[in-house]
Amino acid sequence: MSTEIRTKRLTVRDIRARKGGEPVVILTAYTTPIAKLLDPHVDVLLVGDSLGMVLYGMDTPLGVTLDMMINHGKAVMRGSRTAMVIIDMPFASYQESPQQAFRNAARVISETGAAAIKLEGGVEMAETVRFLVDRGIPVMGHIGLKPQLVNTLGGFRAQGREEAEVTAIRADALAMAQAGAFALLVEGTVEPVARALTAEVSIPTIGIGASPACDGQVLVIDDILGLFDTFKPKFVKRYAELGGAVEEAVKAYAAEVRSRAFPGPEHCFGMPKAKS
Ligand code: KIV
Repeated sequence: MSTEIRTKRLTVRDIRARKGGEPVVILTAYTTPIAKLLDPHVDVLLVGDSLGMVLYGMDTPLGVTLDMMINHGKAVMRGSRTAMVIIDMPFASYQESPQQAFRNAARVISETGAAAIKLEGGVEMAETVRFLVDRGIPVMGHIGLKPQLVNTLGGFRAQGREEAEVTAIRADALAMAQAGAFALLVEGTVEPVARALTAEVSIPTIGIGASPACDGQVLVIDDILGLFDTFKPKFVKRYAELGGAVEEAVKAYAAEVRSRAFPGPEHCFGMPKAKS
């Protein structure tokens, strides 16, 4: 898959078929220019509700709205050609009832053209996932550390270190798979748990802070580029330090404006030649 030239968008079926095969590569994207850069290199672009913290400076994802997700989803669809696009359902847009979830998920899919939605939850969301899938909305489940439960959990804390948590995560994974989710994002858990889940469910598991035992990996784009520095979770690897590069560029620009070195003659429009 990685060496093939793709001519059309990957589908939910393609991703599902990767279970146990070539690892699925996912990055978050929130804007058109970043989606354009990532599209040829990843299988899936995830418009995550992490955008609340990464782009909007929120402390948690809880303030993200459906309209924000739809607008950023449209931007990512415009910038991508062959990667599958999945859009997160934000807090309070799906937990109330299967009907509420369908109404809002249908807006996300029909207004953006994305292939699927992601929602947090396990056993308690199984009925909703079945309701959506049966009505034409593909769902990626999100289990383990669920950031939208930050207030209930008292922070962003890795899951699965205690017996009761292991039992709960395994039940969540099975419930999501049985309800028809096509893939499972597993966040913040220890390797033995991720390995057991990956062996137990027939759909791909996508890890973030969940070890290489998963069928694929996802990271937040601003984390790997060094653009988000409010905090750095243990599982993040920085592949670039663009924050420093941006600062250097802006410092050079400011200095040149102040010294009148910019704009130079090559950046100025010429006057039309006078007619003789
Ligand atoms: O919102 C998000 O970006 C996520 C991450 C866990 C990838 O769901």
